[in-house]
Amino acid sequence: MTARAPRIGIVVTDAYAPDDPDPDTPLLLHALRQRGAEAAAVVWHDERIDLAAFDLLILRSPWDYPDRLDEFRTWLDRAGSATRVLNAPETVRWNLDKRYLAELEGAGVRVVPTVYAASADAAATALATHDTGDGQATDRGTGSGARVVVKPAVSAAARDTGLFAASDPRALALATRIVEAGGVAMIQPEIGELTDGHERALYLVDGVFTHAIAKGALLAEGGGLRGGVYVENPVVVDATPAEHALAQDALRAVRALTDGSAPLYARVDVVTSTAFGPCVLEVELIEPSLNLHVAPEAIAVVAEAILRAAGDDPDRPVSVGTAIPGS
Ligand SMILES: Nc1ncnc2c1ncn2[C@@H]1O[C@H](COP(=O)(O)OP(=O)(O)O)[C@@H](O)[C@H]1O
Ligand SMILES: [Mg+2]
Repeated sequence: MTARAPRIGIVVTDAYAPDDPDPDTPLLLHALRQRGAEAAAVVWHDERIDLAAFDLLILRSPWDYPDRLDEFRTWLDRAGSATRVLNAPETVRWNLDKRYLAELEGAGVRVVPTVYAASADAAATALATHDTGDGQATDRGTGSGARVVVKPAVSAAARDTGLFAASDPRALALATRIVEAGGVAMIQPEIGELTDGHERALYLVDGVFTHAIAKGALLAEGGGLRGGVYVENPVVVDATPAEHALAQDALRAVRALTDGSAPLYARVDVVTSTAFGPCVLEVELIEPSLNLHVAPEAIAVVAEAILRAAGDDPDRPVSVGTAIPGS
């Protein structure tokens, strides 16, 4: 058998929100092609695409999946039996529901304190523990404070995520809507540092730190997003030693709780909270914005990790760097 270029599919969607484009995919396609791979964007729900024609599928920006969850789970099965998918479908399934945060906590990782409510009653009880009873929403982020964040356990891009005074009937209304739709509502104290725009995302490729970004504040009080749209405004930052240690801790726990291997890509979102110390807000293993457009030095690292993964298939001789036949 002659060696041929690896065929890599970058999994995307065809339905991006107007304010939430995906700048990473063109950069990755270009970097992979430059290195001799055949690389193409693959719309995850396009059934005409022959997934088995790819040696490797990389989940990149199938960002409409929370609206089409059953379909996405079925697609994961189909893609996983047609070819190799990274991150691994089992890891993705584990990461789809933020109740994994409780497992991370069980493994000793500090996470944002969270109550998971599967019924409106449970949500009302959880909200009552945050309600100081004076109707004043001034005591931010102390754990006994009056403001809370309500969000669904399955979400992305701050969908159905609201910041409220705990006593605000809209907090319970949102939690009720989430559980009535069959979901689980997460109730957290407001972390003031998040509202003030100090969330940080640390990226790890094959377990190795590549870059960190800060995201601006996202939530408006009373529900919804600041300015009504989802805009992260990523800025490259230096993470603190404590944030690096927390991200590595989270990754160690992820490996122990999944298949043991380092995920190809991971984004660990952290916040250093006065009230709770450095804690993990989420570990995104499905489709993180990599923000390669603001961290161009990470493009080669990601592309080379993808090519290494493509070369891991013992059944297929791969020669990276040769011309694509017919090109
Ligand atoms: N407990 C919290 N306190 C303050 N802001 C929060 C809190 N939880 C989430 N947020 C804000 O909402 C955004 C989205 O929440 P997150 O948990 O990251 O879910 P996802 O990114 O999956 O939608 C965060 O980036 C942050 O700005
Ligand atoms: Mg997030």
